Amino acid sequence: MIQKINSFEEYQSEYAKSVANPEEFWAEHAQTFQWKKQWDKTLEWNFEEPKIEWFKGGKLNITENCLDRHLEERGDKTAILWEPNDPSESAIHITYKELHERVCQFANVLKNNGGKKGDRICLYMPMVPELAIAVLACARIGAIHSVVFAGFSAKALADRINDAKCNILLTSDGGFRGAKTINLKSIADEALENCSSIQKSIVLKRINSEVTMKEGRDVWLHDELAKVDVNCKAEEMDAEDPLFILYTSGSTGQPKGVQHTIGGYMVYTEYSFRNVFQYEENDVYWCTADIGWVTGHSYIVYGPLLAGATTVMFEGVPTYPDAGRFWEVVEKHKINAFYTAPTAIRALQACDIGFVNKYDLSSLKVLGSVGEPINVEAWEWYNKHIGKNNCPIVDTWWQTETGGIMISPLAGITPLKPTYATLPLPGIQPCLVDADGNETEGNDVVGNLCIKFPWPSMLRTLWGDHERCRQTYFATYSGKYFTGDGCKRDENGMYRITGRVDDVINVSGHRMGTAEVENAINEHEAVIESAIVGYPHDIKGQGIYAYCIMETGKAVDDKTRTEILAKVTDIIGPIAKPDKIQFVSGLPKTRSGKIMRRILRKIAEGDTSNLGDTSTLLDPSVVEEIKIGAL
Ligand code: WTA
Repeated sequence: MIQKINSFEEYQSEYAKSVANPEEFWAEHAQTFQWKKQWDKTLEWNFEEPKIEWFKGGKLNITENCLDRHLEERGDKTAILWEPNDPSESAIHITYKELHERVCQFANVLKNNGGKKGDRICLYMPMVPELAIAVLACARIGAIHSVVFAGFSAKALADRINDAKCNILLTSDGGFRGAKTINLKSIADEALENCSSIQKSIVLKRINSEVTMKEGRDVWLHDELAKVDVNCKAEEMDAEDPLFILYTSGSTGQPKGVQHTIGGYMVYTEYSFRNVFQYEENDVYWCTADIGWVTGHSYIVYGPLLAGATTVMFEGVPTYPDAGRFWEVVEKHKINAFYTAPTAIRALQACDIGFVNKYDLSSLKVLGSVGEPINVEAWEWYNKHIGKNNCPIVDTWWQTETGGIMISPLAGITPLKPTYATLPLPGIQPCLVDADGNETEGNDVVGNLCIKFPWPSMLRTLWGDHERCRQTYFATYSGKYFTGDGCKRDENGMYRITGRVDDVINVSGHRMGTAEVENAINEHEAVIESAIVGYPHDIKGQGIYAYCIMETGKAVDDKTRTEILAKVTDIIGPIAKPDKIQFVSGLPKTRSGKIMRRILRKIAEGDTSNLGDTSTLLDPSVVEEIKIGAL
């Protein structure tokens, strides 16, 4: 088991050691896991191709480290504690022993249905234990999981299945989310009309809805489980074999399949989980994310299970049946560590404080935040009303591509500073670069955030497009991984993330490419062109502001707005719906045809006093019109 850091001095010495001798540092931590064969070389890398290999030649199966190795000591300990959407339905405690059996059984179902090592298996499921079990079952047989968030549309699901050429889809008849039910099976059916690679779809019964099962393709999970036993040998995998693909948005219209590999991801997720949350053996830990996002992969499933923790999985939403639900669950399960997103904090902050004060939150020891910059008001509310000024808040900065938390306080060990992610974890070497690509040394400086040395859980490639991986992350600043984030380093060397510097916006902690949303809007038959920018939004952090040029003669009214929203829901999903749509006759463009988003951003923010130089625009008069029509 990985040992955690216990004092600030120890953090400093570990950090120094990790920079002076990264290979020795990570090899020591990697030794604490179960390997079927020791690796030959701890690290081989260059950021030019890029090529990154950790623990090369090592053989293992990550599920033996998540499950089998705990059985003797923690077989009867709760591994997954599942809290349903409806508070009157019972919570479910799954012990390590039961989880091991259920993962093995599910793995046998996958095998029976043609699943094998190297296959890509898509998961489109609600937040039920079977989702976590399915993820681990894929890893058990050496298949690569690609979890698609259950809020995505049929089109988005089909694109992701096709990109990775998945042969199996795991889904359910539907899911519960607050007062709503979502018919996942019918969305999946629509997607599969355009997915020729899928051979089998295995369907969980969750909401008992009427579904159509396609003969020869669709099977019920419960029928399949009844056919197999609970023993399944773990497939022997190479440390650098892919573990999963997870799609995320970039600055082009096409989502990127971020690919992680087994060995390095395993070492880093347990290491970061233990240290950041200062996890102790009997803690009950709750991360409110969805497994459809990287936070759920690393800090609901892998990190906690590798550490032998009790990880809570929640099916519902923070405001159902009322705005006290999170706090009710904290009291009910005596949660010790609670990890959520700023957008959820802001939404609950806007509700009556009585929803908080009704519950006993004294079990809490550590609070966490992830996904977007946390504003100071939300930080203070979280600290005062949830932590009762007694729980360190770990503001964890990281990305789908980084696999694990990169810059964050270690709870109670390293100093806090509101709105700052503070200091890098050992093994992480951040740097700031200026517009010319030169590293900015010293403190009290700003720049673009890069990482200059590999860490075990970093992405290895983008599925099927290594060149795009190189271009996106390794070509902007030679020899460095570029995060796409702007950042400040204060006088004490603490880091504060200021937000994206590329064409990506962050809405409620979800990454969205502006081009992706624009492409969806442009599918409306009367839209000629559109431009999307983010603007400050009280709850979501950033809202989506859309400027649309319509065909002449098309009514520019609320009905058209509704149609545009429906298009976006259809093509991406409800999370990408613009908050505001302004119809315009033109967009501010340079003579070379590039949209000047800076101007659109200013107008969307309601700050039109200083739009900067507009003289280089093709048609400066369009700016006046947009200003007048601003919403
Ligand atoms: C942003 C989520 C400020 C950042 C784990 C990053 C943050 C993007 C923080 C990655 C934070 C994430 N403070 N900004 N603590 N955490 N971000 O891939 O812009 O969904 O690049 O990973 O979210 O989003 P992703």
